[in-house]
Amino acid sequence: MKGVVLAGGLGTRLRPLTAVTNKHLLPVYDQPMIHYPIRTLVNAGITDIIIVTGGNSAGDFLKLLGNGKAFGLKHLNYTYQEGEGGIAEALALVEHFASGDPVCVVLGDNIIESNISTAVRAYRHQGGGAKILLKRVPDPQRFGVPEIDGRRVVRIDEKPEFPKSEFAVIGIYMYDSSVYEIIRTLKPSGRGELEITDVNNAYIDRNEMTWEELEGWWTDAGTFESLLRASNLVAETGANKMELTHGAQIAGKA
Ligand code: DAU
Repeated sequence: MKGVVLAGGLGTRLRPLTAVTNKHLLPVYDQPMIHYPIRTLVNAGITDIIIVTGGNSAGDFLKLLGNGKAFGLKHLNYTYQEGEGGIAEALALVEHFASGDPVCVVLGDNIIESNISTAVRAYRHQGGGAKILLKRVPDPQRFGVPEIDGRRVVRIDEKPEFPKSEFAVIGIYMYDSSVYEIIRTLKPSGRGELEITDVNNAYIDRNEMTWEELEGWWTDAGTFESLLRASNLVAETGANKMELTHGAQIAGKA
């Protein structure tokens, strides 16, 4: 399974912080934001990783991350998204890198307390289709929101005025190689983007979507409030805690 960190887009909700630099290079407590999603993948044993960047300061990712030595990696791959055509558009750019393998996609502004290795193992076992991770939140209308019927997710609404559950679809997705074919069928949404929620609904329509609830806290960091919350959560409890074989956890601040 290959790893994808999506760090494109223009970060307009964080202006003026993003006027001259890229959102994912901004600090979250003591690390640049981009360190956390990379740790999420590496901690789940995914080491063949591509970073999709774009917008301002794209060259600074190479300067900061190099070949990923700080994460125990031998090599990192990079690609560039022009403009802000949406999460699914950014994902389409990695088709050649994935070359038929399934991918675990992490949004560059999503930070988690714990570890996704159990979900990744379950997805490998599933043998195709897609998996999403959900988290109960107080403000679901800010996110993709699933309608759930038992173990089945029936539909996902993007930023609904009237959410059908108290869950958010978090920015960690697992897809098989049919994802690019699905993306090619998408039309831009009202906000002019190719939406990842449309990709997920296509997998739901094919009856090929599973979900799990994430353990530990999760936050995005794309608004002033959530960026501050992310820094506070990391400072208070640490992020990307490793899973140990005996079940204990150690703090692994990126
Ligand atoms: O954080 C989880 C949420 O992320 C999901 O619940 C939503 O369903 C999903 O649409 C997304 O919502 P946002 O509107 O908050 O996403 P945003 O535009 O902030 O983009 C999140 C990350 O995705 C961003 O940090 C980098 C990457 N991205 C985004 C866009 C629009 C790209 O790489 N390219 C893009 O063009």
